[in-house]
Amino acid sequence: MPKICILGGGFIGRFYAESLIGRRGKDEVKVVFSRSQETVDRFAKDYKVEASFTDMEQAVAHSDSEMVIIALPNFQHEEAVNLCVKHKKPVICTKPLGRNADEAFRMMKAVEEAGIFAGYLEDLCYTPKFLKSLKSVQSGAIGRVLWAKSRETHPGPHADWFWDKNFAGGGAIVDLGCHCIEISRNFIGKDIRPVEVMCWADTQVKPIDAEDHAIGLVKYENGAIGQFEVSWTFRGGMDLRDEVMGTEGTIWVNTWLRTGFEMFTSGVGEGGYVAEKAESDSGWQFPVGDEAHELGYPNMFIDMFDSFENGGQPMETFYDGYVVNAIIDAAYKSAESKLWEPVELKEWRGQTGLSKPSVFQEYDSEHWFIKDEILPNGDKVTIVKEKSTGKIKEV
Ligand SMILES: NC(=O)c1ccc[n+]([C@@H]2O[C@H](COP(=O)([O-])OP(=O)(O)OC[C@H]3O[C@@H](n4cnc5c(N)ncnc54)[C@H](O)[C@@H]3O)[C@@H](O)[C@H]2O)c1
Repeated sequence: MPKICILGGGFIGRFYAESLIGRRGKDEVKVVFSRSQETVDRFAKDYKVEASFTDMEQAVAHSDSEMVIIALPNFQHEEAVNLCVKHKKPVICTKPLGRNADEAFRMMKAVEEAGIFAGYLEDLCYTPKFLKSLKSVQSGAIGRVLWAKSRETHPGPHADWFWDKNFAGGGAIVDLGCHCIEISRNFIGKDIRPVEVMCWADTQVKPIDAEDHAIGLVKYENGAIGQFEVSWTFRGGMDLRDEVMGTEGTIWVNTWLRTGFEMFTSGVGEGGYVAEKAESDSGWQFPVGDEAHELGYPNMFIDMFDSFENGGQPMETFYDGYVVNAIIDAAYKSAESKLWEPVELKEWRGQTGLSKPSVFQEYDSEHWFIKDEILPNGDKVTIVKEKSTGKIKEV
């Protein structure tokens, strides 16, 4: 059981600490780093952490840092990974892995060459609903996946650095699209190569250089399409939804808003907190029973620590983080060029040479089957296509 060091005592650092200390019961956060003395002191007090630092290297190098969790702003991920490599510490890093694919690639290579354990903390690929849907998809319940769409929209992030393109690497696409892209990739199949991206992005509301709203399509080599919808301008809380369409079925997942827990209040009590990114503390509210669990954090850490302890690889690796960053880079290019842009992958570890499979069904030896339906008047129609002439008709 490794002793844990958390780098970053902010929003996600605290969520991680809650998930670790409150769930596995055997994990211990022993070391913490944060930029300011005030934050690090508060974190150390709240989570009873023995060693706290405002110097990152001291935290990483500490003898009780047996697994380092990176919960720092995007522009500090590479520096933190390099310190873990230098001190040979196993490392798990929050999303997005890099601000761009070059950064992510360097991080991936650095940990692989150093031979240290590394995992990508993509929590939304560990939510209870996601894991169950993925299992159904993988067991063939919805046939071949044709379209996997994922949406994350909310009224915008909680800290200054997110809004600065240089620190964050972009806007809503890199911040939220990274989740949506990896969700679609999982459904479509991680060994299926993403080939090109078409993306619309705009700054519709906020006074920033980055995009606050975007929609993108990711084409995969087997003909499947991924779709992401992201926004920092959405009003009404946080909307986390996925849709998967296959040849034999459909899955709709709603993770956050209006999932069966609704409350009216003239004013929320203590602290006014309802759920992440809730916009109001009075009127109708949509609280979430167990926020950390619904967001996938405990399942994610179980996978990370079990994989580490068993000498295996977690479900989400630095390689996955790199592929996601490469898709995001193509999305930014496409938003500029208004064209389909190729996904440039310096290393592809999945299948190659796939093409769109034919799934035509035969009606009889002379016809392809299109569909049948019972009409409101009780009639049954069957629509077919004649193979020899291409004519479409009812039989
Ligand atoms: N669902 C998720 O997985 C999820 C959710 C939120 C954030 N994140 C990711 O976690 C990382 C941190 O985000 P956060 O929301 O915790 O941010 P935050 O601003 O709330 O916290 C950042 C922490 O890093 C520390 N820090 C050190 N040097 C800093 C610097 N130069 N500037 C700013 N902060 C500095 C801060 O003191 C703070 O403790 C980001 O990469 C973000 O994308 C992931």
